[in-house]
Amino acid sequence: MKRALITGISGQDGSYLAELLIGKGYEVWGLLRRHSVPENQTSRLEAIGLLSNPYLNLVYGDITDLPSLLNIMGKVLPQEVYNLAAQSHVRISFDQPAFTTNADAVGVLNILEAVRTICPAAKIYQAGSSEMFGNEVDDDGYRRESTSMRPVSPYGCAKLYAFNLCSVYRSSYGMFIANGILFNHESPRRGLNFVTNKIVAGAVAISKGEASELALGNLEATRDWGHAKDYVRAMWMMLQHETPEDFVCAMGESHSVRELCEEVFSELDLDYRDYVTQDRKYFRPTELHDLKGDSSKLRKTLHWEPEYSFRGMVEEMVAARL
Ligand code: GDD
Repeated sequence: MKRALITGISGQDGSYLAELLIGKGYEVWGLLRRHSVPENQTSRLEAIGLLSNPYLNLVYGDITDLPSLLNIMGKVLPQEVYNLAAQSHVRISFDQPAFTTNADAVGVLNILEAVRTICPAAKIYQAGSSEMFGNEVDDDGYRRESTSMRPVSPYGCAKLYAFNLCSVYRSSYGMFIANGILFNHESPRRGLNFVTNKIVAGAVAISKGEASELALGNLEATRDWGHAKDYVRAMWMMLQHETPEDFVCAMGESHSVRELCEEVFSELDLDYRDYVTQDRKYFRPTELHDLKGDSSKLRKTLHWEPEYSFRGMVEEMVAARL
């Protein structure tokens, strides 16, 4: 039986990945941070019935706490490590830049050292982000593995450090480390302070008469939104490939926040223009204006294809919230 360790198992992607790996016959170990409301840590896993699954083991630990990682690596001896733990909110990274750097950059250094010391043959998946590109883009409007990276947020800077460090450990120590460069990915399990589920939750509340308006930030930014379930499958595929490489995972189409509002509100027979307002507090000091990814390498090399369309994903999110 294969053993996998997932950091960030309490998040959206962690829950989908745990489901996928258990379905494939893995023994899954998940790292949980200590939290004053422990139920918040396991609510996603509980909602999908995984908490009582005998193939899921949860252990307390933190990627900023190297001794905890060394202990867990020694206890689990995983063959695959998926690092999904992060402070993953871009705007909040401006409020908490040091915390973000500790978790998203130094935390990755800790994972690499723990694996190198205890179980150097383990394969590592590092959750990189399209936020690493910043506003750099190829002439055709797409970002791909070869596009230069110049982040515009503390979050993007920390992720880029981790991305580069993974490449260095890969070439210096011959470790199997795959960097995923994932564009935005959403689902009904998405946190409510990310724009997709914020719009879905706000629109549903308005449709039920529980709210009268929805305050957002920049409506003109565009994103390439896919479904988290499709994207965690790509993570797993990257670790099954014979060589460790970097892969962009994206849908290849972008929509503005405004279009997303239109789509979600019209699912509920509402006109977003009657309810959506703008509030400066949701704007970022610097914004990544447009995002569209080219995942040809992932599609050609690993034969990855998404099962969800943008519209299918929005429909699922609205139905789940209703
Ligand atoms: N969160 C949020 N809240 N975003 C808003 C709002 C709002 O009220 N109003 C407009 N936006 C805009 C943001 O300015 C941004 O342009 C876009 O909506 C998407 O914001 P988020 O959903 O917060 O995601 P993100 O693109 O910043 O980051 C996500 O995707 C990255 C991959 O590109 C996160 O999941 C990151 O962890 C991930 O790496």
